[in-house]
Amino acid sequence: MSEQTPPTPAALLGEGQLDPDALEAVLAAPVERFRHDYLEIRGLRVSFDGFVAVDGVDLTVTQGDLRFLIGPNGAGKTTIVDAITGLAAATGSVRFGGVDLLGKPSHRIARAGVGRTFQTASVFDELSVLQNLDIAAGASRRAHTLLRRRSGIPDDVEAAMETVGLAHLRDVTAGVLAHGQKQWLEIGMLLVQDAHLLLLDEPVAGMSQAEREETGLLLQRIGAQRTVVVVEHDMEFLRSFASSVTVLHQGRVLSEGTVAEVQADPRVVEVYLGTASTSTTTKEA
Ligand SMILES: Nc1ncnc2c1ncn2[C@@H]1O[C@H](COP(=O)(O)OP(=O)(O)OP(=O)(O)O)[C@@H](O)[C@H]1O
Ligand SMILES: [Mg+2]
Repeated sequence: MSEQTPPTPAALLGEGQLDPDALEAVLAAPVERFRHDYLEIRGLRVSFDGFVAVDGVDLTVTQGDLRFLIGPNGAGKTTIVDAITGLAAATGSVRFGGVDLLGKPSHRIARAGVGRTFQTASVFDELSVLQNLDIAAGASRRAHTLLRRRSGIPDDVEAAMETVGLAHLRDVTAGVLAHGQKQWLEIGMLLVQDAHLLLLDEPVAGMSQAEREETGLLLQRIGAQRTVVVVEHDMEFLRSFASSVTVLHQGRVLSEGTVAEVQADPRVVEVYLGTASTSTTTKEA
């Protein structure tokens, strides 16, 4: 088994296909486990050398919601995700499932059930798809499952791999995956980590229309059980899949509601037509 010839990426990469039916095996858990999940952000503020990137943001996302976070470039979307996950120093408060996250190191936040993906996929390029998932699983796995793992691929890893359509690429190094497949791999990693709060930063950027559709349906199914926040620019994707939307502009919440409510908000229309910067007074730190 050590004499396998390495798979030829070009022949294998082909069309991705998600397998939402496999998702049930990874998500299989009574909904009660998630009953107390609740992201509550109050007065969040992040500044970089005096520049205020996030300026007093309040955000509440409940379990079962599929919340989209939108806003023009530089609105502070990624910085909010960074603050929630301990990668940007912030003030205010961030609570999830009753646990205070602000000020905790990233690994503690991950252990509290908070997982995120990055705008630029951050998988281990030199490791295989399976190894990436295994590492993610190891981060949350208890000792007895670690032992069981020696006998083969754990069921949750196998199911996650099928869910994100990468089972046929298990031995391919992640570095050769297409951008969309890397995003799927990251989502798979969050599933095996058993993340309760999933924060996805522009997951469908660079995906084909068919891949977006598949990803949206997958996120809807995950979102029905867990708390999911999707940062996205793609308005068509948003209209198809968001259950609620928060619009950010210059580090503040500009509007919030259903897709229809937000789209009908003149302030949002103004920002997306690019006229807001002339009509909104610039705030000082
Ligand atoms: N590490 C940093 N140091 C200094 N400024 C930063 C840093 N990170 C972000 N910023 C600034 O903070 C603001 C918000 O950036 P952020 O990346 O959160 O925006 P975004 O809404 O995610 O934008 P995009 O849609 O382009 O991804 C921007 O003006 C950005 O230049
Ligand atoms: Mg961003």
